[in-house]
Amino acid sequence: MEDAMSEALHYHGWTRRYAHQVDEILDVLRDISDSDEFILKSRVTALESAIAQRTGATHAIACASGTGALTLVLSALSIGPGDEVITPAFSFISSASTIALTGAKPVFVDVEPETATLDPAGVEPAITDATRAVLPAHLFSCTAPMSVLRAIADRHGLSLIEDSAVSLGAEVDGRPAGRHGDAGVYSFFPGKPLGGIGDGGMVITDHETLATACRQLRNHGMDLKVRFLHHKVGFNCRMDELVAGYLLRQLPTLDNVLEERRTLAQHYEERLRPLAPDLLPPPPDFTGRAVYTYVVRAKERARLRDHLGKVGITTEVYYPHPLHLQRVFRDLGYQRGDFPVAEQLAEESLALPLYQGLPLADVERVTDAVTEFYGRRP
Ligand SMILES: Cc1ncc(COP(=O)(O)O)c(C=O)c1O
Repeated sequence: MEDAMSEALHYHGWTRRYAHQVDEILDVLRDISDSDEFILKSRVTALESAIAQRTGATHAIACASGTGALTLVLSALSIGPGDEVITPAFSFISSASTIALTGAKPVFVDVEPETATLDPAGVEPAITDATRAVLPAHLFSCTAPMSVLRAIADRHGLSLIEDSAVSLGAEVDGRPAGRHGDAGVYSFFPGKPLGGIGDGGMVITDHETLATACRQLRNHGMDLKVRFLHHKVGFNCRMDELVAGYLLRQLPTLDNVLEERRTLAQHYEERLRPLAPDLLPPPPDFTGRAVYTYVVRAKERARLRDHLGKVGITTEVYYPHPLHLQRVFRDLGYQRGDFPVAEQLAEESLALPLYQGLPLADVERVTDAVTEFYGRRP
């Protein structure tokens, strides 16, 4: 029999993630079948209240995904053709694709090397008469500098949309991530610390009109009381009761989950920091942070991945292409060299295994293998 330490280690722990929850998931299914509620019903409403209460937001609007949440906010702000929205050159595709889908132009700005989030120094020079909003994204385990960005947005009369898809439970300057812009969004994609059994998302905002518009837009622009009376051209971007029912049961565990992930990240930090500058871990001190993925910057990334793969450690590259060089944005006319930090991160970023239930001994197995690769003594 294989000993536990030689088992394959996956960066996200997919093979282990839901195995212990089969009964709980079947319970949610049974509950839904008994109640005959499937979409935007009592569990969705209860989840919205729970998220509003947890974050302190006046309104929480559940929807089909984090991408859907961004789409709702951009549409609710009537952002569209002729408008520009400033967003980081290094992020998940949604931060920029949702802007492009409204007909507006994503205007990229470079990111900070330590946090991989929007560099405020690049924002003001990118503002034009067409700029309507700034859309920073929190990434991996780091948050964007929201108070500086808020001040810039206010100075120029711009909306601030906080892509906090990966940061539910994190704090920025003592305030929940997601609460710093005109609206924030969360994703409940299964890999997230509060991950669902399917896609799910949430908009939070304190603005009544924005909230009402998002509520209408997620359900075909329909009036919130009168069926089949449509105020806007909207979407089918609703949340299922199945996802909401599961998330409601998981929400009370989120703080423990985040604490466990911080402990794992701290364990990595202590063992990997001595490898700088060959390998740069994310910024230390995980207090108040939500560790979605543990992403390091690695010299000779391809060779390191290969080395780890050979000893059964699977890693992932988030993200291999900066957004301004993605084929889909070719027409925007950006060139290699426009955003050097984003380009370097695309060459060096590597996600190491981090998930609930990952034993500290397995973290050490990873750090030993990484240390060995760089020719140091484990
Ligand atoms: C920064 C960022 N924004 C938006 C999203 C989109 O969330 P979803 O996958 O729920 O659509 C993600 C997903 O990982 C993300 O990382």
